[in-house]
Amino acid sequence: MPTKVPATLIPGDGIGPEIIASAEAVFEALGTPFEWDRQAAGLGSIKSAGDPLPAAALDSIRRNRLALKGPLETPSGGGYRSVNVRLREEFQLFANLRPARTLIPGGRFDKIDLVVVRENLEGLYIGHEHYIQIGDDPHAVAMGTGVNTREGCRRLLEFAFEHAVASGRKKVTIVHKANILKALTGIFLETGVKLYETKYQGRFALETMIVDACAMKLVLDPWQFDVIVTTNLFGDILSDLVAGLVGGLGMTPGANIGASAAIFEAVHGSAPDIAGKGIANPTALLLAGAMMLDHCRLGELARRLRQAISDTLNLDKVRTGDLGGNSTTGQFTKALIARIAKA
Ligand code: NAI
Repeated sequence: MPTKVPATLIPGDGIGPEIIASAEAVFEALGTPFEWDRQAAGLGSIKSAGDPLPAAALDSIRRNRLALKGPLETPSGGGYRSVNVRLREEFQLFANLRPARTLIPGGRFDKIDLVVVRENLEGLYIGHEHYIQIGDDPHAVAMGTGVNTREGCRRLLEFAFEHAVASGRKKVTIVHKANILKALTGIFLETGVKLYETKYQGRFALETMIVDACAMKLVLDPWQFDVIVTTNLFGDILSDLVAGLVGGLGMTPGANIGASAAIFEAVHGSAPDIAGKGIANPTALLLAGAMMLDHCRLGELARRLRQAISDTLNLDKVRTGDLGGNSTTGQFTKALIARIAKA
């Protein structure tokens, strides 16, 4: 048995513990390629450690440089700052890679295979916001500042272009809103076009598109896209749209990649409406696990896992409620493990 790769495992909030338990069982069936260092973070850690992102979890990721995490809840409006955003900043996870592939044929959008590469650290997500009081209304005016840097744009665009080359993609679409946010997203567009012209011309086709047009085209004809690369907020929105093309949030994985660590997770959140019911779809997290295997050069295990997921969904027709089935998380996991054993 080859050496196990040490990795941090964070169950997280809501459905997190349920889908992480599924992932643990599935990885065990695959021969336990990772040596998990289980760490708490999220809502529960506010009570136990006084911080939704305790130092022990951060130290573990710092040591392992690799993590699989469940979703972490963020209160809307007030409350604490997003733990996900803190993790991205702490480990400079500048690239968010979100592939979307049709796994169940015959749906509204068949044969989708595209990837959204989202800038993860800059833009309108930096959290420079404040209210201005007028008279007795403390929230009379709300202001927010976005920041994009030349270097931040360049390293993300380079990551996306390198990913396109390495995975044999034919086209990259830079998505922006430089007609209105002329400086904030203009710098992203300008940097991308220049980088392409100096280093990547001829290796894939480049197109540029305004975000609103992109949203429409993704719904009308998603097959025209291959790799979409965009700024933080647009990437957040478009990757959820793209998740909808392939069966919903239960099917889309994500990787947060930086120079000093890589954190893998599902695109979806903690799904409080179904938490504790044992009906969550673990597929997105398991596909994130497959990306993690690829990242660790364990491509054969990743291929086996993806094949077993596809066979469970399509041959055994074992599906959770979000996919129109009636299987529980546990039943899906059991069927998947039986498939892994057969492969
Ligand atoms: P959500 O993604 O948790 O849920 C949206 C809808 O999709 C819900 O109806 C939910 O039941 C369904 N859904 C999501 N994942 C599913 C799965 N695996 N199986 C079956 N159905 C699934 O989004 P929402 O409700 O906006 O956010 C809830 C919380 O999650 C918030 O506090 C938010 O900040 C947090 N969040 C965390 C993320 C992360 O940790 N990476 C990402 C997105 C949201």
